[in-house]
Amino acid sequence: MSKGRLISFEGLDGAGKTTQMQLLEQWLAARDIPYIRTREPGGTPLGVEIRHLLLNRPDLAITPLAEAFLFQADRAQHFAHIVIPALEAGKLVITDRCIDASIAYQGHARGVGIELVARLSVIATQGYIPNLTILLDLDPALVHARTDTANDASGLREQQTRFDAEEEQFHQRVREAFLVLARIHPQRIKVLDASLPPELLHEQIIALVEPLLEAM
Ligand SMILES: Nc1ncnc2c1ncn2[C@@H]1O[C@H](COP(=O)(O)OP(=O)(O)OP(=O)(O)O)[C@@H](O)[C@H]1O
Ligand SMILES: [Mg+2]
Repeated sequence: MSKGRLISFEGLDGAGKTTQMQLLEQWLAARDIPYIRTREPGGTPLGVEIRHLLLNRPDLAITPLAEAFLFQADRAQHFAHIVIPALEAGKLVITDRCIDASIAYQGHARGVGIELVARLSVIATQGYIPNLTILLDLDPALVHARTDTANDASGLREQQTRFDAEEEQFHQRVREAFLVLARIHPQRIKVLDASLPPELLHEQIIALVEPLLEAM
């Protein structure tokens, strides 16, 4: 095992990942704890291009399997150039999405197959997996209210993506898959009720992160 620590944030679009990552960053900065913040897709220059293809080109037809491979291409580059070197240097890495998102979205919701996508993910990460995954669990119906641009005055959310256009049923399937993964990996994946106020969620996240940092 590497000396560093990898923490991933997962959940549906609009669940509050960016909000909680910002609060965690403030907490880390206040304690002079160095960290690297990154994301999937889009954590590398190649990844930025792949991200654009995946999320912001509704005009492009992409098969579920092609989509799954594009996410893994982004991840292979991301782990090789950013995540693994940082972990091997003993650093803390916090990432907005990682392997579980692929398994939930492409593996389950898109129907590529959970086991296949899990296998591809392990290849892409060269076997590295997050030490802690914070799953911000929220009913898709509530997500919808939040992400409605009329209600979203935070400016945190990015432009609408190809996934935002999916039916609520699709997001229900993503949510189900995340919860199944959390049951399979209870030590790693911690489910938080994302309908709680941000400050309360932040406290719960700190309670999970602190023990991980002590052991570094
Ligand atoms: N705990 C919360 N309770 C209520 N509203 C919240 C909470 N956390 C975040 N929000 C609001 O919900 C919206 C989406 O939050 P945020 O951008 O953090 O989600 P996200 O998971 O990063 O979304 P995306 O996947 O689109 O980047 C924002 O308007 C934000 O202010
Ligand atoms: Mg976000």
